[in-house]
Amino acid sequence: MAKIFTVLSGKGGVGKSTLCVNIALSLCQKGKKVLLIDGDISLRSLDMLLGLDGMVLYDWSDVLENRCDTEKARLFYDDNLQLLPAPLEHPESLSEESFKVLLSQYSDSYDYIFIDSPAGVGKLPMIYAKCAGQCIVVATPDNVSARSAGVMGNELVKSGIEDQNIKLVINRFDPLAVVFGKYLNVDEIIDITYLSLLGVIPEEKRMMYASVNDKELPSRCKAKICFSNIAERISGKDIPLNL
Ligand SMILES: Nc1ncnc2c1ncn2[C@@H]1O[C@H](COP(=O)(O)OP(=O)(O)OP(=O)(O)O)[C@@H](O)[C@H]1O
Ligand SMILES: [Mg+2]
Repeated sequence: MAKIFTVLSGKGGVGKSTLCVNIALSLCQKGKKVLLIDGDISLRSLDMLLGLDGMVLYDWSDVLENRCDTEKARLFYDDNLQLLPAPLEHPESLSEESFKVLLSQYSDSYDYIFIDSPAGVGKLPMIYAKCAGQCIVVATPDNVSARSAGVMGNELVKSGIEDQNIKLVINRFDPLAVVFGKYLNVDEIIDITYLSLLGVIPEEKRMMYASVNDKELPSRCKAKICFSNIAERISGKDIPLNL
């Protein structure tokens, strides 16, 4: 049975899709099997980030509505990593119950499933969160993003998800900008969000280059190591934060 995570944020553009891809790649490098589900209906991006966009014929709504089987809808990045692309229109049959059935059809074939949610506290992110049970909220080190991550955390708790299943990842962290007073530091973000920290990813200039060129980050780059540490923590290892 796969462990299922939904990756969410209050504010958009904070790095949810980037995080999904890079944590998945790190888990796969450790021999785990991962399914990525693009939950960003009409604004899908994981197919592009994985260089699979020319191959999309079906999406998960086709499985949900019995237009194709579970196999046909998956795109293979490699033997360990597969993707279910997002539909371009909101499927009428989408509900918490129907999405749970969809997940159950894939759960036995994977160690981990990650659902890349759209930003915000709308109905759709909450459906994904409730189906997954484990949530990762992403925030960047600024007031607006941190406050909206806190709001997201509250909404998740209100919808019945237990505190211990909601984790925070701080992305695009830059210690120098903190020193010059431009960014919040890690403790300030935790104080604002009331969420427990899963990891911190530094600002990495090569991230955009890696994304648009379908390349993986170099193995010795700090962001790659931080993604790998998050993957280890998700697998149950106690890896210290190294900022
Ligand atoms: N650690 C980082 N360092 C530098 N750039 C980053 C980092 N993480 C993400 N980015 C860049 O930030 C931009 C937004 O990232 P991404 O699309 O993953 O965000 P998102 O939260 O999924 O956005 P949306 O809410 O629109 O779905 C991309 O250009 C990505 O390359
Ligand atoms: Mg995204």
